[in-house]
Amino acid sequence: MRRARAAAGSKAAVADPEEDLLALRGEFPILATSTYLLSHSMGAMPQAVYGSLEAFADDWAQDGAEAWERWLPLILDWGNLVGRLLHAEKDSVIFHQNVSVLMAIAASCLRPTRRRNRVVYTTLNFPTNHYFWQVQPGIEVVRVASPDGITVPTEALTAALDERTLAVVVDHGIYVSGYLQDVGAIAAAAARCGAATIVDAYQTVGCVPIDVRAWGADFVLAGAHKWLCGGPGAAFLYARPDRLRAAEPALAGWMSHAAPFAFEERLRYADTAFRFAGGTPGMASLHAAIPGIRRVAEVHPERVRAKNVRQMNKVITLADARGLEVRSPRDASRRSGLVCLNFPGAEAATRELVRRRIFVDYRPGAGIRLSAHFYTTDAELETFFGALDEIRGAGGAGGAARGSKKR
Ligand SMILES: Cc1ncc(COP(=O)(O)O)c(C=O)c1O
Repeated sequence: MRRARAAAGSKAAVADPEEDLLALRGEFPILATSTYLLSHSMGAMPQAVYGSLEAFADDWAQDGAEAWERWLPLILDWGNLVGRLLHAEKDSVIFHQNVSVLMAIAASCLRPTRRRNRVVYTTLNFPTNHYFWQVQPGIEVVRVASPDGITVPTEALTAALDERTLAVVVDHGIYVSGYLQDVGAIAAAAARCGAATIVDAYQTVGCVPIDVRAWGADFVLAGAHKWLCGGPGAAFLYARPDRLRAAEPALAGWMSHAAPFAFEERLRYADTAFRFAGGTPGMASLHAAIPGIRRVAEVHPERVRAKNVRQMNKVITLADARGLEVRSPRDASRRSGLVCLNFPGAEAATRELVRRRIFVDYRPGAGIRLSAHFYTTDAELETFFGALDEIRGAGGAGGAARGSKKR
């Protein structure tokens, strides 16, 4: 009996709860030839993308323009596939090429006045969001500073909202630290001021469970090339149902029409998220994104999240042991899927890591960014730290700090 209990408690007897996830590694060719810790930037490509693109090419090759019969409904089906990951209402998500264009489409639904022309965001938003609003005629930008380059206190952001605010632009996960913003609280504060909330969830969708209904934001935009393993050119916009029904995007096109192939003289907006579609969608990138999105939906963001939290906590422990500066929240509930590690010479070290096919990236001020997806092994994390020790020990990263003292 005692022996049986000891055996049950031994490592060999404990089933690995992540084993089924790691069994999926064979679906992603790059994992066989590299240490891949870059899903916060570009998720690994599923092998099934070849088949998906071939199916698209077959449609086009064999049916020409008749392929629209299948492609048009596929656009909303695709939106609903993504929508399930967001807990979005049916037909409330539209496909587009990228977040920059979607930001412009969402912005074109707002009507600034001389009294209400401020757009509020933080110094840590992704540049695409800064650049767009910086150059909008008649818009006054209010940038809320981060005290540490990592976090943005919710109170600081909400304190900047008032009756002059047209919109607040919230990056759910901050790209240079992984800090998670409290979208629900910010959207509620914005609504009290009569302002719209536009959320960029690119850094979190697929890795952090999202419920857009609970958030109550007006618009949520994101894309598929990070955690959704969907490749470039596949982004999407969600609009809250009341916002969707009322929206008259000034940035419209023939596909925004309720019946695009009727070629009517006057624009009648579609009842669905199609009203944000604008022009002809990039059907190749839409097809390429399907296998990745499906796979992540099947694995489920809750499981991606649980595994990611465990592994990124491990990364922080291993970084602390080496005295690296952790430029991400230590509290996992305030952190997206990535962790940033800084030290003198981090940029040069990144170049050397990538040369060795240990894929991570570098951002100024943040240091090395790395992350774990459902397919990431603990051994890959150890490979990363082993190589980093070697590079820093060899002084190969510009005299990087050594030893285990915290700095
Ligand atoms: C937070 C965030 N938003 C947006 C993007 C991409 O913007 P776009 O789709 O316009 O290229 C990225 C990175 O690629 C990002 O990290």
